[in-house]
Amino acid sequence: MSTDAIHDEAAEARRGAFTGRRVFILAAIGSAVGLGNIWRFPYVAYENGGGAFILPYLVALFTAGIPFLFLEYALGHKHRGSAPLSFARLSRGTEGLGWWQVGICFMIAVYYAAVIGWALSYTVFSLGKSWGTDPNAFFFGEYLQVGDPGVTLDVVPGVLLPLAVVWLALIVVMALGVSRGVGATSVIFIPVLVVAFGALVVQALLLPGATLGLDALFAPNWSALAEPAVWAAAYGQIFFSLSIGFGIMITYSSYVHRHTDMTGSAMVVGLSNSGFELLAGIGVFAALGFMAQAAGAAVGEVATSGIGLAFIAFPTIVNEAPAGAVLGVLFFASLVMAGFTSLVSVLEVVISAVRDKLEVSRTRATLLVTVPCAVLSLLWFSTTSGIYVLDIVDHFINRFGILLVAVVSMLVVAWGVRALPRLRDHLNRDGSVPVGAWWIVLIAGVTPLALGFVLVRELWAVLQEPYGGYPQWMLLVFGWAVVVLVAGVGFLLARVPWRPQTRIDGYNDVDPAPTAPLGKDPS
Ligand code: PHE
Repeated sequence: MSTDAIHDEAAEARRGAFTGRRVFILAAIGSAVGLGNIWRFPYVAYENGGGAFILPYLVALFTAGIPFLFLEYALGHKHRGSAPLSFARLSRGTEGLGWWQVGICFMIAVYYAAVIGWALSYTVFSLGKSWGTDPNAFFFGEYLQVGDPGVTLDVVPGVLLPLAVVWLALIVVMALGVSRGVGATSVIFIPVLVVAFGALVVQALLLPGATLGLDALFAPNWSALAEPAVWAAAYGQIFFSLSIGFGIMITYSSYVHRHTDMTGSAMVVGLSNSGFELLAGIGVFAALGFMAQAAGAAVGEVATSGIGLAFIAFPTIVNEAPAGAVLGVLFFASLVMAGFTSLVSVLEVVISAVRDKLEVSRTRATLLVTVPCAVLSLLWFSTTSGIYVLDIVDHFINRFGILLVAVVSMLVVAWGVRALPRLRDHLNRDGSVPVGAWWIVLIAGVTPLALGFVLVRELWAVLQEPYGGYPQWMLLVFGWAVVVLVAGVGFLLARVPWRPQTRIDGYNDVDPAPTAPLGKDPS
């Protein structure tokens, strides 16, 4: 055994590892399948051409989603580190990219947990339909007690409690480590989620009016294909939905055994995620069809996404549907399970980075990360102004955080470090899907161009009209400042030196590709 292999095993024992490829795939699916699939995809598809959306969606999946998934898998699996460590081992100068992703993940965890907390409350509320006859007034008024846009410190106990439960559960899972915590959560939750959501789809399809909803979702509007906005929506959805650009897939693939078929795994993860998306589209629109019929309205009048769909439309459907309580519990419990496994994945990015950098124990790294994150989350989102902040942070981080870091990292890896040939060789060593020159062309050219285009459009839209009609100062503080701060702190953290025992330079050598020379390798 070479000294590198011995070093590798020791590192594995310290950092943790998934027990097998199956666990890795389930964890990656657990990260990918989240609120984005359930409450975002159906409406995005409906609004952007319905049945015709399948075309841009598949193009985005195969030209950007899966190729970028390959890239993140290669980075993490080859360099066997958290996002910052993997980038540092790729080439020292790129470490900041990893910390930038860590910063994004930290922010996402802070607000994503709030939504899971609400969904937890609503799972219980479903049983007695506690929201009464006006779910809208209940959600904003009685439940969140929303005040005027601004910032207050009035704590709402009904929101604080479920949020505290979510954070407690998170801390326990994260402290249990990669295999017993992160891996086990997905191994349990993903099958249960599929069964629960499958039952929901069946129940929704049996509701009167379900076909109206499906007709509305799948009716193809081919002329939409000529609109750039539709293509931008497809690329945006694929990126968010596959959890790429967050550093999650880099982190998870660093926990996978060396000789693993990463490209085949990427296909399984990508297609499973899209399959779940389709299932969610069917379930959600069948239910919306029922809601429209009951209200004597068109599906277009009741269709929404996000918070409006989950916390207002769904409670309305539960009120009217036969066995509505069952539908409600299935829906909200699905949100909790899908969201929780995604939340675990973003936290793992941060914890793993802290652990690699400081070489501290798992428990210590977990506490170092989760306690401040939980405190921030509780302070922000259990107050009466939480929802506005959530909306703004979410909008800006998704657009100008994740997409930007994805474009920059593709360009840096492809053109700055010129690492694509060796990453391709790495993928081909044990991969079942042969990666050819097409992949390099996509990652170095086509995908960054497509994403750059999406970014410019978004930037233009925000500059044209302040997002959501919020006051400028709120957009500046919770939107722009957060985005800039996260990147800035990231690049500062990259200046903190690694511990002497962490091997950075020359690490690439432990994984020589037998079929090709290493090429120009600056590190
Ligand atoms: N893929 C996730 C989703 O669809 C995106 C995500 C991951 C969001 C992790 C937050 C945290 O919801």
